[in-house]
Amino acid sequence: MADVKRAFVTGWPVDHSRSPLIHNYWLKKNGISGEYLKRPCAPQGLQQFLSDLESEGFVGGNVTVPHKEAAFGLIDQPCRAARALQAVNTIWLGEGGLRGTNTDGYGFLANLDDRHPGWDCEDNRVRGALVLGAGGASRAVIYSLVERGFSNVIIANRTLARAEALVEHFGATCQAIDIVEAVPGNLAPAFIINTTSIGMNDRKKPLNLEGFSATTIVHDIVYTPLMTPLLSQAKQLGMPIVDGLGMLLHQAVPGFEKWFGIRPVVDETLRKILLDDLGEAS
Ligand code: ATR
Repeated sequence: MADVKRAFVTGWPVDHSRSPLIHNYWLKKNGISGEYLKRPCAPQGLQQFLSDLESEGFVGGNVTVPHKEAAFGLIDQPCRAARALQAVNTIWLGEGGLRGTNTDGYGFLANLDDRHPGWDCEDNRVRGALVLGAGGASRAVIYSLVERGFSNVIIANRTLARAEALVEHFGATCQAIDIVEAVPGNLAPAFIINTTSIGMNDRKKPLNLEGFSATTIVHDIVYTPLMTPLLSQAKQLGMPIVDGLGMLLHQAVPGFEKWFGIRPVVDETLRKILLDDLGEAS
């Protein structure tokens, strides 16, 4: 039992997490004798939980809602992405103590590179991106777009002050607008990304896509349902679409490699396992 590496996902609650499906698939596929377990933890217990990782036999794990920001404050030596996002989702025991990173931005980029090669071509980087929403997920998306050289990132949010705070953080390549101003005519982005929760539990769209160019790539990071009202409309209008499942799968790659020593592959079998779990026909 001594050489069985153990990793975890913690959140409050954590029942809904699909991370065990992903990591246990990769453990089996790669013939690794490891475990990936759900460990619910209330906010007031997070510090103790992280202090006890080594004695509990864990090599590391994932932290999810609502712990990402609090965990950032508890790790030693946060990496650049974690500092930019002020949040971590992946931690491990390493030299110098508890280390942490944020792989949400990596997952966003790796998925697009995989599903939509050329999405970041120079023409698109100049035309720019329209990001809907200004929460934690939006932060990761904007960070990634700026890193990839997008010179024009428009952040549209219901609460303008939150979008303005992100502009303050990420600088002059970004601008903030009220979401009702995000209409074609005003804007001609190459890329539209929804990071709001609109469309998850309702049949609403954060934006009407009529009038935007048919070449605009539309990406929704919501994956329940997979075909959100926004993506349905984009499809009807003949726009290229990217669903939210791939970002979830790709963000798991760096953590697995840290804990278990092999860089895993996001393959169609894994995607099918997740689609089945989500009740989506593949
Ligand atoms: P996360 O960290 O997962 O991104 P969040 O911080 O709760 O979540 O942010 C949710 C985003 O969805 C916000 O941009 C929020 O807009 P506000 O900043 O104005 O709250 C947006 N959002 C959620 N429900 C919305 C709704 N019904 N209409 C418009 N925007 C909504």
